[in-house]
Amino acid sequence: MGAHVTVEVVSPATRFRAQTRVPGDKSIAHRALILGALAVGDTELGGMPDGEDVRATAECLRKLGCELDASGPIWRLRGSGLQAWRSPDGALDCKNSGTTMRILTGALAGGRVSGTLIGDASLRRRPMERVVEPLRRMGARITATDGKPPLTIEGTPLSGFNHDLPRASAQVKTALLLAGLHASGPTTVREPYPTRDHTERLLTAMGARVTRADGAIRIDPAGEPLRPLHLSVPGDLSSAAFFFAAAALRPGWTATVSGLGLNPSRTAVLDILREMGAEVEVRLEGDASIEPRGRVTVQGNGLRAVTLDPAQVAKAIDEIPVLLVVASQAEGVTRVAGASELRLKESDRLATMSEGLRRLGVPVEETGDGIAVTGPTALQQGRVGSAGDHRVAMALAVAALVADGPVSIDDATVASISYPAFYQDLGAAALGGS
Ligand code: S3P
Repeated sequence: MGAHVTVEVVSPATRFRAQTRVPGDKSIAHRALILGALAVGDTELGGMPDGEDVRATAECLRKLGCELDASGPIWRLRGSGLQAWRSPDGALDCKNSGTTMRILTGALAGGRVSGTLIGDASLRRRPMERVVEPLRRMGARITATDGKPPLTIEGTPLSGFNHDLPRASAQVKTALLLAGLHASGPTTVREPYPTRDHTERLLTAMGARVTRADGAIRIDPAGEPLRPLHLSVPGDLSSAAFFFAAAALRPGWTATVSGLGLNPSRTAVLDILREMGAEVEVRLEGDASIEPRGRVTVQGNGLRAVTLDPAQVAKAIDEIPVLLVVASQAEGVTRVAGASELRLKESDRLATMSEGLRRLGVPVEETGDGIAVTGPTALQQGRVGSAGDHRVAMALAVAALVADGPVSIDDATVASISYPAFYQDLGAAALGGS
C-alpha cells in the first residue's frame, strides 16, 4: 500500500534471448511453510522465493509462534503441530496475498487459537465468502465484513464435510483440506475443473491420507502429526511464463528456464503457447518425487489466435494476462471465455489488461466474463499502469518489448510481490533496445 511507486521504462528489443532461472514457486512455498508449521519436527526448504507474498506468510506463522529462520539459502522451520500455535499479538497481516489469507483461514479454523487476518487495499476488496461459507459448514467460527477481510477466526472443533465447490479455486480447496486434516471424520472436495494439486502432493509426502476418487479429493483426519518436509522448491512456472511469452512474440526469439516446476496442473500455459504456434521443448530432470521439474525452451515461430475455454482458463489462471499480450501479436481474434475469476484477482485483470493493451493500440473487447484481443497489432509506445497488480505490470513490460518506442509502467515495482529482480532479468535478455 503506497510502497510501490516507481515508474519503470521498458524499451523495445530487436532480439530476445533469455537463459535464466526464476524465483521458487510461490504456490508451493506458501503451502510448504504452512504445512511445515502444522507438522511436528524440523522442515527445511531450499529454493524459496524472495517475493513479498511468501514473506507475508512467513511473518504470520512467526506471529503464531513458529520458529522460522529465513536468513540463509535454506529456510528452517520448527513445527510443533496446530495445537501448539499460540494466539498472535495483534492482527496477522497477509498484505497482498490472497493465498496466505485463504489457506491460513482453513488451517486456523480447527485449531485452538483466535486470530484476525488483515490485508492491503487490494486484498480487502477480494471475496472471502467462498472460503468462509464452506468452512462454516464444518462448524468453523469465522466473521467477515460483507464477505470480505478482515477475517476473525476462533478455532473450534470441526466435522468433516462433503464439499461441492461452485467455482474452481486451489486456494479454497487447500483451505478445506487443511481444515479436514483436523476435523472429525473425512472431508471431500469436488471442484468443477481441476486446479493445481500442490497441497495434495505435499500432504501425501508428509504422511497424510489424501485420495482421489470419482473426481473428488478426500482427506482423512490426521491420526498422527504430519512429518516435517525436506524440499527444494522448483522455479515458478507462472514467473517463467513472462519470459516464454516474450520469446513467443517474434520468430527466432528464445527463452530457456531451468530448474522449473513442471507439475502438470500448472503447465497449460505451455500447451497454449504451443497451440498459438510457438515451439516449446520440455525436458524433465532432477528429483521429481514430490513435484516434477525440468527445463523448458520456448522459441518464437509466428503466432495464431486461439479460443480458451473455462477449463483452460482455470489451469492457466495466472498466465492469462501475459497470454493476452501474446494474442496481440497473433493472427486473428483470441477469445477467452468463462474468466470472470480474473476480475477478482489482485486487480480486475480483464479490466486492467484491457486498459493497458488499449493504451498501446491493441483492439480489445471486454465482456462480462471474458475478453477478445485482435492481432497482430503494431504496438505503440506510451504510458500504462500496473493497477497495483504484479502480473499486470510484468505482462505490460513484456508487451513493451515489441512496441515502437519506450513504454513507461507506473507503479511497476509491485512486481516484487512475486519476482523482485524481474526487470533486471528481462533487461538482461532483451537486446538492442532503442
Ligand atoms: C493459487 C491459486 C490460484 C492462483 C493464485 C495462487 C494457489 O487461485 O490464481 O495466484 O496458490 O492456490 P485460485 O484459488 O482462484 O485457484
